[in-house]
Amino acid sequence: MDQLIQKAETWVQKLFEKDSSGHDWYHTDRVRKNARMIAQKEEADLFICELASLLHDAGDDKFHESEESGRIFVVSWLEKENVPYLTIKQVMAVIDTVSFKGGNNRQPDTIEGKIVQDADRLDAIGAVGIARTFMYAGNKGDAMHIPDKSHRTEMTKKEYREGTSTSINHFYEKLLTLSALMKTKTGKDLAKKRHEFLELYLEQFHEEWEGKR
Ligand code: ADP
Ligand code: NI
Repeated sequence: MDQLIQKAETWVQKLFEKDSSGHDWYHTDRVRKNARMIAQKEEADLFICELASLLHDAGDDKFHESEESGRIFVVSWLEKENVPYLTIKQVMAVIDTVSFKGGNNRQPDTIEGKIVQDADRLDAIGAVGIARTFMYAGNKGDAMHIPDKSHRTEMTKKEYREGTSTSINHFYEKLLTLSALMKTKTGKDLAKKRHEFLELYLEQFHEEWEGKR
């Protein structure tokens, strides 16, 4: 089992070698560490949580033609490594429910699914989450902040396409909503401090922006 974790680590590390969209290897590694920490406290299956965390972004449709082909990519790797069918099923059930896509996503129904989703969301808030947001927006060519474009809780698809998405807007659109969406007790506890840090950061940001500090 440890050997498979090791192999998954090596495989994913290589896959994300050149990423600058907020999905570099270190994101995966942080999610895995968060997931381990939560799994130990929640007494869940550590092996499934760790393996699913390591693979959670490998099949993301951002890197594949479709959700389906991304999924096949990950399943094929697991099959190649002779992972038992039941384990593949468990791991894929976790991965399928991890992402925050709003609307069309399925909610995790196992404790392992809840844990990996919480672990991934934790990495989107707090100091690291802030850094990832600015990296992502910069990479996409978005502005840091346009005053009247922020403070909205939802952006329409049209606005998104037209590039009125900004880093600061992303806080309101997504980041500030995440702590309330945590599924496990441990995830909630960990999210609290990170959420408070987001609020503190925004307060300072807006004051500096307006020349008040
Ligand atoms: P993941 O697949 O790890 O859940 P995403 O692909 O949704 O995350 O996003 C990667 C990172 O970029 C996250 O930290 C997320 O908050 C941030 N991000 C996503 N969309 C935007 C956006 N429109 N503007 C700024 N940051 C974004
Ligand atoms: Ni992720």
